[in-house]
Amino acid sequence: MIKLGVNIDHIATLREARKESFPDPLAAAREALAGGADGIVCHLREDRRHIQDKDVYGLKKMKVRLDLEMAPTAEMLAFALKIKPEMVTLVPEKRVEITTEGGLDIVKYTRKLKPIVHSLRRARIKVSLFVDPEEKQIAASAALGADFIELHTGRYAQASYVKARSAGFNKEFANLKKAAGQAVKLGLLVNAGHGLDYQNVREIAGIDGLKELNIGFAIIARAMFVGLKKATAEMKGVIK
Ligand code: PXP
Repeated sequence: MIKLGVNIDHIATLREARKESFPDPLAAAREALAGGADGIVCHLREDRRHIQDKDVYGLKKMKVRLDLEMAPTAEMLAFALKIKPEMVTLVPEKRVEITTEGGLDIVKYTRKLKPIVHSLRRARIKVSLFVDPEEKQIAASAALGADFIELHTGRYAQASYVKARSAGFNKEFANLKKAAGQAVKLGLLVNAGHGLDYQNVREIAGIDGLKELNIGFAIIARAMFVGLKKATAEMKGVIK
């Protein structure tokens, strides 16, 4: 069974929009878990635009299975080593982006990433690298000694929003399938995420070897109408 990690960043985005104390990401995590989420994902950005340090400390206290997304920087590494989440997913980060654009360039930044990956693994934190479904990125991820990769499904998701099944959609799907197969052969565990919704997740959930899907926006958007517990349960149902 493919696991579902629910990303709760958007609850914090709403809170920070008014600089209020609510809605509470920790309460959201509880609801998502009650709806069947297998774990909670959050991204502590360098500019702290949504999730704050106190949220991550709170999640740690709740003893949830936490996947902390973060940029590969010295500040974030020190934070992760203090918190010791179950897993860290290293992602690229640009100040001006609306959301994470593109995967981490493992080929280009191998030398910078190596000590970060090693420090995290030495602290028994599983390391996942958020990468585009490209052969050279996956080979470099395996060479770096990561435990997991998370395949960036953003381009696939964009192609899926076009109503008719386009050639672009088929190409992006084929890329993801091939990348997952390559990663499994290289001994990597494979997650996927970004832009997945209640429709386009169906094909992705059928890819052999996937361990976990990390989904935020679609679930939180649906939760506005049906509540987070139900929105999470519905997504679990589709993935099944
Ligand atoms: N995985 C990673 C690495 C991400 O950066 C994000 C977005 O924060 C997601 C998954 C979830 O994407 P979405 O909110 O589009 O479902």
